[in-house]
Amino acid sequence: MATAVERFDEKARRAFERIGRTEVYVGELLRHPVYTRFLHWMVALFFFLALFTGFGVYLPWLFRWFMPIFGGGPLAREMHPWFGVGFVVFFGLQTLNWLKPMAWTKADTNWMRNIKEVVTSEGKLEPPDTGFFNAGQKAQFWEIVVGCVVYLITGIILWAGAPTFGRWAVAISYVLHDISALIMLGGIFIHIYLSTIGEPGTFQAMTRGSVSEAWAWTFHPAWYKEATGRDPQQAYEQALRERKD
Ligand code: HEM
Repeated sequence: MATAVERFDEKARRAFERIGRTEVYVGELLRHPVYTRFLHWMVALFFFLALFTGFGVYLPWLFRWFMPIFGGGPLAREMHPWFGVGFVVFFGLQTLNWLKPMAWTKADTNWMRNIKEVVTSEGKLEPPDTGFFNAGQKAQFWEIVVGCVVYLITGIILWAGAPTFGRWAVAISYVLHDISALIMLGGIFIHIYLSTIGEPGTFQAMTRGSVSEAWAWTFHPAWYKEATGRDPQQAYEQALRERKD
């Protein structure tokens, strides 16, 4: 029986399919439906708005030059928590949407154990049991979930300020808020690199919503097998043979 989260998600997916479109051409697989893509780009938008206004608030002497974009420093300070709320709300919805594919499995623990081999094995397929998301993607996802909880708690304390929560709570919140932002920012640089030039063919998963079969059997072989019923290693070897002919 479907849970309340699954029912909510299914409804949202159906509603968004009526608004947007996902074309899956021959030789491609559906990766992310419209609802997932909408949430992802809203998360990214609010993340960068919160990040840039946050820079202006915490390091005004360094980032004063771009504060006019937000109507000046004081307005950026006012808007920053609201952008943060937008980020947390959209990521919260994405968390519900991705609860299932982001669940940690034994294959992920093995992936992490062999991370050096996986990362340096250029040109070869990912381990055969790598599913819809790999362990690196899942680890980053759960780091962002924890980061959102930290932002929410410390953000509320900083928003209300010392009169409500006391000076100690505000001081500690500043430190945790900034550490969380720095960790997430570092991760996002890696994420953007891997999603674009690092692993070619990935970006279209979040624009058009589809990926090539070759991309699927290379980076997510177990998902390829599940989606097509075909063996990823055989598909890869056949493609190599066809290229040579
Ligand atoms: C311009 C910036 C960004 C680009 C180009 C980008 C691109 C992508 C792409 C192509 C995927 C699909 C990967 C796949 O299907 O395997 C993806 C997934 C994802 N994105 Fe982004 N993204 C950006 C910003 C962000 C931001 C700011 C966040 C959150 C703070 C974020 C969080 C995620 C998460 C959690 C996933 C799923 C797991 C993963 O693939 O790592 N993204 N992104």
